[in-house]
Amino acid sequence: MLSEFVLNHMAHLGHQATLPLNRQLYEALRRAMLDGKLTAGERLPSSRDLAHDLNLSRNTVMSAVSQLTVEGYLVSQVGSGTYVADSVPAANAATRSAIRSANRSDKRAQPGTALPRRSLSRRGRDLAHRFNASDLEVQPFTPVHADFSAFPVALWQRLQNRHWRHTLPDMLDYNHSGGHGPLRRAVADYLRVFRSVQLEPDQVIITSGTQQSLELCAQLLADHGDTVWLEDPAYWGAVKAFMATGLHLHPVPVDSQGMAPQPADHARPPRLVYLTPSHQYPTGAVMSLARRQTLLQAASQHNAWVLEDDYDSEFRFSGPPVSSLQGLDTDGRVLYMGTFSKMLYPGLKLGYLVVPKALATDFRQAHYDLNRPGQTPVQAALAEFIEMGHFASALRKARQAYAERRRALVSALQPALSPPDGPWLAGAEQGLHLCLRLPNRVDDQALAQAAARHNLTVRPLSAYCLARHDVKGLVIGYGYAPLDAIRHHGPVLARCIQDCLATH
Ligand SMILES: Cc1ncc(COP(=O)(O)O)c(C=O)c1O
Repeated sequence: MLSEFVLNHMAHLGHQATLPLNRQLYEALRRAMLDGKLTAGERLPSSRDLAHDLNLSRNTVMSAVSQLTVEGYLVSQVGSGTYVADSVPAANAATRSAIRSANRSDKRAQPGTALPRRSLSRRGRDLAHRFNASDLEVQPFTPVHADFSAFPVALWQRLQNRHWRHTLPDMLDYNHSGGHGPLRRAVADYLRVFRSVQLEPDQVIITSGTQQSLELCAQLLADHGDTVWLEDPAYWGAVKAFMATGLHLHPVPVDSQGMAPQPADHARPPRLVYLTPSHQYPTGAVMSLARRQTLLQAASQHNAWVLEDDYDSEFRFSGPPVSSLQGLDTDGRVLYMGTFSKMLYPGLKLGYLVVPKALATDFRQAHYDLNRPGQTPVQAALAEFIEMGHFASALRKARQAYAERRRALVSALQPALSPPDGPWLAGAEQGLHLCLRLPNRVDDQALAQAAARHNLTVRPLSAYCLARHDVKGLVIGYGYAPLDAIRHHGPVLARCIQDCLATH
């Protein structure tokens, strides 16, 4: 019944409840027409009856009706009454039945939300629902989260203020294609010396982070349906970037030396190969030199581009530094990317992509057109931060702090590592997380849930697997938790692991 619908709608107006009554009635009647409760040609009850049924003044009703008439929802016929105009779009049968079932299944449905949510595409559903990192609470041991408490905020503010004071008009425009020149030069100098990357500044593109670097590579180097080889287990961010660009994901297993393509993989030749050779995410494997050379040869044989994600090499705590894969490339087919998310702070949203010389102009142009780069003052401040040596010193301090945290975590986990066929630590001593491998019989998802009951966030390794069922373990972050917290919570986590092993 119309008055019932209108009253119900007005009772659930939420933030619109402060609108004048005539406007609330207008909204309710309009919704009744759009939802098919009142259809084209139908006669509206008289204003007197409506006012009586709704317990409103007649003036209120007449005001709402006259507004709907002005807007063409209603037509008034002298002596006969007011009708729903023919031009009001009829809610089709499918919509009506969807509305009915939505209303049936959600007793608390509010007016305005009663319409079925437009469904996402298949790709949209995958992007929204699979491999979600953002819903994990940040608490002790949440992987990949860094500690920003030591970031020199006052110094950073001073640098930024200086740029804002001096060059304001220029800085408000879009940034240059490729990013702010001094920052590109500073990044090039840093990468040449510390990561053995072969490059000139014009090969550097400042992006909003690895995610954007990956999207750009996928958009510019591959077509919809092309194949990308990626490590299994894999970094979720890369999985999403490739899903979003419509690539065919081909998982390639990772072993203790990194990505290990099998003969069967070559039957699905890649257009792109994405990997984390310096510290495989999440297993921590470092790709051996022999494997690097084999991989570059395979890429050359398939005429594929190699995307090297060097996300945390600055934090290596033991053993010789591992140089970039790009530094070994003699064929101009490796694109190298890094991020300031872990070295400084993620909200900065800055990363860099180094492209082969032959691609530099096209990448800069497309990056400009697709992303309209900005943030010149921030980039200028960062360039200065690097040039003045503050970056190196921040890295040094962070490296020491993370090394200490890692040692504390390993020591706290020792009791759980003792059985000979039990868990073991895999991968290099590097980065912000460690990978605890578990025997295949262990349910790592259940173990992560048990840890969550103690307010500890660890991720099951199997959750990163695309096609494999033989990889179990925990990805445990130590970047975010201060030393005291690691010493306090580490033994709790160790006991969870022991309890879980005892029942498997
Ligand atoms: C393998 C890998 N690459 C890149 C990133 C993040 O890069 P960004 O924040 O620049 O998107 C992460 C973050 O955890 C990561 O694990």
